[in-house]
Amino acid sequence: MAEHENGTSTGRGGHSRRRFLRGSGLAAASAVLTSQANVALDEAKAEAQAPDGPEALSGDVTLTLQVDGRELSCVVEPRSTLLDTLRNRLDVTGPKRVCDRASCGACTVIVDGDAVYSCTTLAVSCKGKAIETVEGFETGEGGVPHAFHQHDALMCGYCTPGFVTACKAFLDANPGKEPTLEDVKRGLDGNICRCGTYIGVFEAALAAAKTMKGA
Ligand code: FES
Ligand code: FES
Repeated sequence: MAEHENGTSTGRGGHSRRRFLRGSGLAAASAVLTSQANVALDEAKAEAQAPDGPEALSGDVTLTLQVDGRELSCVVEPRSTLLDTLRNRLDVTGPKRVCDRASCGACTVIVDGDAVYSCTTLAVSCKGKAIETVEGFETGEGGVPHAFHQHDALMCGYCTPGFVTACKAFLDANPGKEPTLEDVKRGLDGNICRCGTYIGVFEAALAAAKTMKGA
């Protein structure tokens, strides 16, 4: 004999009222979800079939990306992230995978002038755009990597490529200006350093800004 949640009991195969209501609620919710999913699917199909709609991609695609001034081609799945494509297909390993979920900034690259998390950017969405990675930056005096070196702005180094890239994007977006410490903090607030080398990073950014302004 089965015991009901309300203390009453039924014979073999019996159902409590609460269990019945829970079951009907689930059935109703699934019906709503199913109909919403069908509507979304129909909309996606219609959008893909529209003459000026987004191109529907499936299977492997051949992709050519402009990376640090070079045209690099590879075959990827449409769902591949820019980070995976750069590191695993194009051997551009400067951008690092740390959190892999748009939180830390170690994977930062510059796409058409904007700093983006490459771990959550689709590679196919970067077709025809200029991608800059830390591997292509000027490393001599006056460059951002040199400023990081001069100001000891790293410890383990995992966050460093992302910080250097975010710093470059920030300075490129503010040419000829001399930012304040607060400006730099805001400009780099999408990046995290677990070793806590923020003081060195900010000093490096301020120094690079000064050098670039005087150049
Ligand atoms: S690895 Fe992309 S934000 Fe952390
Ligand atoms: S230097 Fe180690 S995480 Fe930043």
